[in-house]
Amino acid sequence: MPALIRCLAGRSCRVRAVSALWPVVVKGSSTASLSPSPRCPEPGLPYRLRALQTSARSTTTATMHVPSPVSLQEPMVVPLKTLMGPGPSNAHPRVLEAQSQPLLGHLHAEFCKIMDDCKDGIRYMFQTENRVTLALSSTGHGGMECVMANLLERDDVILIAHNGVWGDRSSDMARRQGAVVHQIKEPAGSGFYLQELRAALDVYKPKVLFVTHGESSTGVLQNLNGIGDVCKAHDCLFVVDTVASLGGVPFYADQWGVDVVYTGSQKVLSAPPGTAPISLSENA
Ligand SMILES: Cc1ncc(COP(=O)(O)O)c(C=O)c1O
Repeated sequence: MPALIRCLAGRSCRVRAVSALWPVVVKGSSTASLSPSPRCPEPGLPYRLRALQTSARSTTTATMHVPSPVSLQEPMVVPLKTLMGPGPSNAHPRVLEAQSQPLLGHLHAEFCKIMDDCKDGIRYMFQTENRVTLALSSTGHGGMECVMANLLERDDVILIAHNGVWGDRSSDMARRQGAVVHQIKEPAGSGFYLQELRAALDVYKPKVLFVTHGESSTGVLQNLNGIGDVCKAHDCLFVVDTVASLGGVPFYADQWGVDVVYTGSQKVLSAPPGTAPISLSENA
């Protein structure tokens, strides 16, 4: 801890109310204003040593306006719940164990190796050899936003296969990028036939076709076979949201000609939330 809180050479040290941790006498209440801080005795000296020297000379120290929250002094209570995202999706003990491993720096060679291993795992689950395959630090929404922000520019045309909530959400996100959004609609509870998607591509000539594989607002699983070929023939990128489906049903990104696919970790994959695996083809 002292190594983390070092005085900057020659600067006044303002962070002083770590006093609960250090043997420093604190005067005043939490509403008192900051009193002037003495200069660091030596550049780079750990804070704790400086505090000790200071307390030997005088008892004048600063306080912080915002008190340390009581909750941080209590143990964290995490109850065991059955997670019912797409059905029971509690994490496997192996996943929980992985989370209790020691921390690595994000530039350590060992960390890079783990990251490469994860990318290989993501290629496996999407069934793709795409070089650009990674895990975003976000939920599934972040994956959707990443797609819209990176594939679309102002006035680009996107066609959205709309048969539920995710057709609306993706349309909103695409509009925010300034794209021209067209929707091909089926009633909630229905999927799309290849012929109707082909006809819509003929009419709108979009840069991107967006399809939700598992429309979780209704439970419809969209058949993706053949759509990639039709998109390719129309020079259109084929994007698929698999947030609610990946891991529950097979997915073959390369075989189906999918240009961009993303998912979310906390659904069928039964991993902790906060990771959105994504893969982009060379075309994308
Ligand atoms: C099909 C689909 N896409 C995207 C999302 C958004 O994912 P997240 O809740 O991880 O942001 C969901 C969430 O339910 C979903 O079902």
